[in-house]
Amino acid sequence: MPAPRVGEVQGAPIDASAAYLASIVEFSTDAISSIDLDGRISSWNRTAENLFGYGRAEILRQPYDILIPPDRRAEDAFLMDRLRAGEVVAHFETQRLTKDSALVDVSITASAIRDGQGALVGFSEILHDIRAQKEAQREMQRLQLEMIRLSRWNMMGMMSSSLAHELNQPLTAALSFVRAAWHLLPPEAEQAREYLDLAVDEIKLAGGILHSLRQFIEKRELSRTPHDINQLLTEALRLSLFAGIQVRHRIETDLTQDMPDVPMDGVQVQQVILNLLRNAIEATMAVPSPHIVLTTRVQPDDILVTVRDNGPGLSTAPETLFEPFNTTKAEGMGVGLSVCRLIIEAHGGRIWAGAGPGAVFSFTLPRRPS
Ligand SMILES: Nc1ncnc2c1ncn2[C@@H]1O[C@H](COP(=O)(O)OP(=O)(O)O)[C@@H](O)[C@H]1O
Ligand SMILES: [Mg+2]
Repeated sequence: MPAPRVGEVQGAPIDASAAYLASIVEFSTDAISSIDLDGRISSWNRTAENLFGYGRAEILRQPYDILIPPDRRAEDAFLMDRLRAGEVVAHFETQRLTKDSALVDVSITASAIRDGQGALVGFSEILHDIRAQKEAQREMQRLQLEMIRLSRWNMMGMMSSSLAHELNQPLTAALSFVRAAWHLLPPEAEQAREYLDLAVDEIKLAGGILHSLRQFIEKRELSRTPHDINQLLTEALRLSLFAGIQVRHRIETDLTQDMPDVPMDGVQVQQVILNLLRNAIEATMAVPSPHIVLTTRVQPDDILVTVRDNGPGLSTAPETLFEPFNTTKAEGMGVGLSVCRLIIEAHGGRIWAGAGPGAVFSFTLPRRPS
């Protein structure tokens, strides 16, 4: 007698090994169901009951379609065609409908079921619940968008702040030229003096606007809550992976265990790490085996984070790198490092650059709020 197959359990006399297989199916932590050639559900295990909310009695003999979201019908037809052609579909990520019409994310592994003679009798599907994974992915995506938004905002802030600073000087000069002209005018040039007075008012107004803009930007509050820098760094790495920033780079971490939690604005500090990482990656694009090491260390008064790469190193004096609009890249904006400095100094920390074999960027964050 040929060994019984899972597909033969139903309706066939259950011998010891069939019962054994049936109980594996029944107690699997994945939902398992089979479909007959008419597209009706012919078996349904316990996890399927829990995942979809349909009891066995109500779902058996129902068309399998009731589990398929309307916009996935075409995809399912394609899946079925592949199964009929004898393929095994493995880890196919899609969604299914529960009894309450909720969508669940599942990874499906499906194959054809054949009888002892090799004739097709139906299909089996193992549905692995991947809701948690998908939720984590969506959360990552949300976080990433948030970071992009924030990074734009930081850049805008930085640019406006330095623009305000730069524009202040020509405005001050313009003001003194206008005042000088006012005094040089002959007494009868009444109307010209009136116009110059108006010009002075306008210049003062522009200066006032710039001043309040700078104040607004520089007074942005940081939220400060205790954070584990290692966790933040690991998350930043995952984010960079997710954003496709890392391609062929070997990125290593050398994290000191049991780092103390340190008060910081986690999102902002993550921005700093991402900016340094992005720069390191950009600097090592042309290196044969690009290698970046991220280190965390604890010191008496602060924690130290270092990003080290094996690129060509710094081409200018380290201090100038942190000034806004300083870039050596054709497409660069030159604000990344100035934003980093803004954030780190707002935390009472320090950031600096040095030479390793390539470049080394380090920053500290005080262990206690200053
Ligand atoms: N890891 C690094 N290796 C070498 N040079 C670097 C590195 N990181 C930054 N730099 C230099 O600092 C400059 C400023 O960096 P940044 O402020 O991030 O602006 P951007 O990346 O837009 O040029 C870069 O243009 C580059 O010349
Ligand atoms: Mg940069």
